[in-house]
Amino acid sequence: MSVLLTGGAGYIGSHTAVEMINAGKEIVIVDNLYNSEAKVIDLIEQITGVRPKFYKEDCCDKKALEKIFSENEIDTVIHFAGYKAVGESVEKPAEYYRNNIDSALCVIEVMKEFGCKSIVFSSSATVYGSDATVPYKEDMPTGGCTNPYGWTKYMIEQILRDQAKADKELSVVLLRYFNPVGAHESGLIGENPKGIPNNLMPYIAQVAAGIRDHLNVFGNDYDTPDGTGVRDFIHVVDLAKGHVLAVDYAKNHKGCEAINLGTGNGYSVLQLMRAFEDVNGIKIPYEFTPRRAGDLGSCYADASKAKELLNWKAGLGINEMCRDSWGYQKNKK
Ligand code: NAD
Ligand code: UD1
Repeated sequence: MSVLLTGGAGYIGSHTAVEMINAGKEIVIVDNLYNSEAKVIDLIEQITGVRPKFYKEDCCDKKALEKIFSENEIDTVIHFAGYKAVGESVEKPAEYYRNNIDSALCVIEVMKEFGCKSIVFSSSATVYGSDATVPYKEDMPTGGCTNPYGWTKYMIEQILRDQAKADKELSVVLLRYFNPVGAHESGLIGENPKGIPNNLMPYIAQVAAGIRDHLNVFGNDYDTPDGTGVRDFIHVVDLAKGHVLAVDYAKNHKGCEAINLGTGNGYSVLQLMRAFEDVNGIKIPYEFTPRRAGDLGSCYADASKAKELLNWKAGLGINEMCRDSWGYQKNKK
């Protein structure tokens, strides 16, 4: 039996592929390489010694998915595939709704056709919207998203919840990620944003590498200890290990569960930047600029449900996150 990783050549998918293989699981990857490269499959092999089966296909192509399901015994899907750039989703909403929702629907339909009964979905803390209060708990209302990307996550969660109501044999785990950062300790795989990074850690890493001359800190007047935004940064390897446990949980459970994957700790922009400076011995020049539209002051998880249901807890701290982000960036130079 194999686990299908859609979008498995991407940032979180490739780290999950490594942890799945390390845990002795058979995996198959499907990715259209829209935001990743075929060489990631070689790197997964280099890290683990096992080459995962790979299909370069689009998950919106039902026929292609049917072929994959007919050639492999897939008992679980981890559905990572999707577009994820918040700003771009505001510019190109139809493309985001089309790709993210169509790919999810195709996966769900083909799973049904082949009797595959468990799915783990990459959701996001963004589904809690702008009115929620920290720490975010899974039973809080969702919605009020501030961009089309967030709405696609909200809508796919609803589709999966409805699907689980209709099919009592189905098991759905909605993993709500907080802020994934860091990279595999080998420095071989990591996050590779196209163009100017929108997210904080890749931006800091590019300043450290001399690609950007300084960091713009978006706002220093939030109601937080130092005035800068507070986030729940989580090491991508911890996140990947959460998926291995979620797959096991999904196999022995029916119905739909939403589970936060965060550390439960908030760090500010300045705290993260200073940790990066201390751990890597590199000065990061910065300037305060006005708040970024749509940003929240504080966002962090109540991480107790993941502990209770998956026996999962983040093990790596902010220093490892900064060390490994730089380890990957340095390797790219
Ligand atoms: P990523 O862009 O690195 O990986 C997504 C992968 O999916 C890419 O390799 C891309 O080529 C592939 N893909 C996109 N559309 C596809 C399609 N139609 N068919 C086949 N492959 C397709 O992104 P990531 O950071 O690894 O994120 C993985 C998932 O987690 C996404 O669904 C994302 O929205 C979600 N998520 C990410 C974050 C984050 O901060 N990185 C936070 C919350 C949720
Ligand atoms: C963003 C998305 C969120 C998505 C997540 C993926 C928005 C509004 N939210 O979250 O939907 O799931 O990425 O990881 O885009 N910052 C700076 N300077 C920078 C970049 C960021 O000061 O150059 C600050 C931000 O203002 C924020 C913090 O750093 O306070 C984290 O930002 P970022 O990494 O973009 O993540 P989020 O905004 O939390």
